[in-house]
Amino acid sequence: MSRKPKVVYYCEQCGHQEPKWMGKCPSCNQWGTFQEEHELEGLEELGSLSSHQQPRPINEINVDYSARISTGGQELDRLLGGGIVNGSVLLLVGDPGIGKSTLSLIVAGNIARKTGKVLYVSGEESAEQTKLRADRLGKFPDNLYVISETNLDFIQKHIEKLQPRFIVLDSIQSVFLSSVRSTPGSPSQIKECTLFLIRIAKQMGIPIMLIGQVTKESQLAGPRVLEHLVDTVVYLEGNRNQNLRVGRAVKNRFGSTNEVALFELTDSGFEEVSNPSEYLLGNRNNPMPGSVIVASARGTRPIFTEIQALVTETAEGIPPRHIAVGVDRNRLLLVTAVMQRWMGERLGNKNIFVSTGGGIESDDPALDLGIAAAIFSSMRGITFAHDLFFIGELALSGEVRPTPDLVRLLNEGKRLGFKDCVIAKRGIAKVPPDLGMNLFGLEHIGGFTRILPAIRQ
Ligand SMILES: Nc1ncnc2c1ncn2[C@@H]1O[C@H](COP(=O)(O)OP(=O)(O)OP(=O)(O)O)[C@@H](O)[C@H]1O
Ligand SMILES: [Mg+2]
Repeated sequence: MSRKPKVVYYCEQCGHQEPKWMGKCPSCNQWGTFQEEHELEGLEELGSLSSHQQPRPINEINVDYSARISTGGQELDRLLGGGIVNGSVLLLVGDPGIGKSTLSLIVAGNIARKTGKVLYVSGEESAEQTKLRADRLGKFPDNLYVISETNLDFIQKHIEKLQPRFIVLDSIQSVFLSSVRSTPGSPSQIKECTLFLIRIAKQMGIPIMLIGQVTKESQLAGPRVLEHLVDTVVYLEGNRNQNLRVGRAVKNRFGSTNEVALFELTDSGFEEVSNPSEYLLGNRNNPMPGSVIVASARGTRPIFTEIQALVTETAEGIPPRHIAVGVDRNRLLLVTAVMQRWMGERLGNKNIFVSTGGGIESDDPALDLGIAAAIFSSMRGITFAHDLFFIGELALSGEVRPTPDLVRLLNEGKRLGFKDCVIAKRGIAKVPPDLGMNLFGLEHIGGFTRILPAIRQ
């Protein structure tokens, strides 16, 4: 008996589903985002259990622990927890023009050179356009195969014929399955295409890198469920006016999500920044009011960067603004509230702008003390010593708290040539006495002005 296809309505923005069309999405409150979609006809027959996988005792399952493929770059491999896991699906997401196609083509070339055949599928550009990009990036091996195709049924046939070791699909929004009756890029197409590709990856043991476009708000375009389906989600971020690009794993089934990978985008592609602190502090001039150095731990590696603050009076009748670039805005609001309450600073009628050097993003609480110091420095027009940095979290009570990676951060600071550091007083006991760095312990933010004469220029 044939089943009448059921019509459902999806919100293009957030994937919310309703049985009837609505002008405004009740989930994300966007207007005019509802699309009509037809659900798949018919249901698959279940078949007999014997033709399916059987439950196995966990200790009898064999796993090849070496089954990771190197991307050819240490930064990206570290970000992924040691390379790409066989049969996994990785989603690379980023703003238009940030370098997704460039990075994925470089990875495809590296894997083709070292591991075996690679299929690069472009649904957005012709094979000739991909070749033009490749010519700009250097020499590529012969076993990197390129095809411009959007029909996923054909793509599957090419995969079966070529039997590649790795696949790049640029982008998931550009491909379609003819069995799904909606346009490429619609939530149900994206979801069904991803499920289809995950099946290919798992059944054939081939890792797939999907490229994902983002919306105006820099969120992944399409249903949020996509992030749940894939194994790893990496956001490629950066300010387009600067060359620094930061890879951030927001989900990783095979590694930590705390890691970041830094790259510099040059005319000839991506160069790895293996020592981010030296890179980020490299362009630093003499200390200026409002500028401080902070340290925070990202995964296996400490990162030192500059924080700049600018505090100005608000114009009559205009509410004050707090703008944070690279720093989490909620942490900025917390720091300013703590400063008002415990340092007696009158910030209620001030505009406060805070940004991190190189635009590197962090919501690490270890930056709190440095943010407070930068705001204080801008307000008073004072500069701190050149070889000084700050580590410390601020509690709402005004207490300065130590961070778990204190000793590691101090050792890295010493290696980078810093001599002085302001830290939580409670942390001093954990620091080896022979570290060779001047430590200024602060118990409470209210005591900041007491140590000021010793740390200012
Ligand atoms: N011929 C060129 N010379 C130098 N730089 C270039 C050249 N062509 C492109 N670029 C740079 O490479 C950057 C990355 O481009 P790429 O196409 O990889 O980005 P993308 O994230 O894939 O963009 P999209 O979302 O549009 O697909 C671009 O921002 C551009 O500045
Ligand atoms: Mg692209």
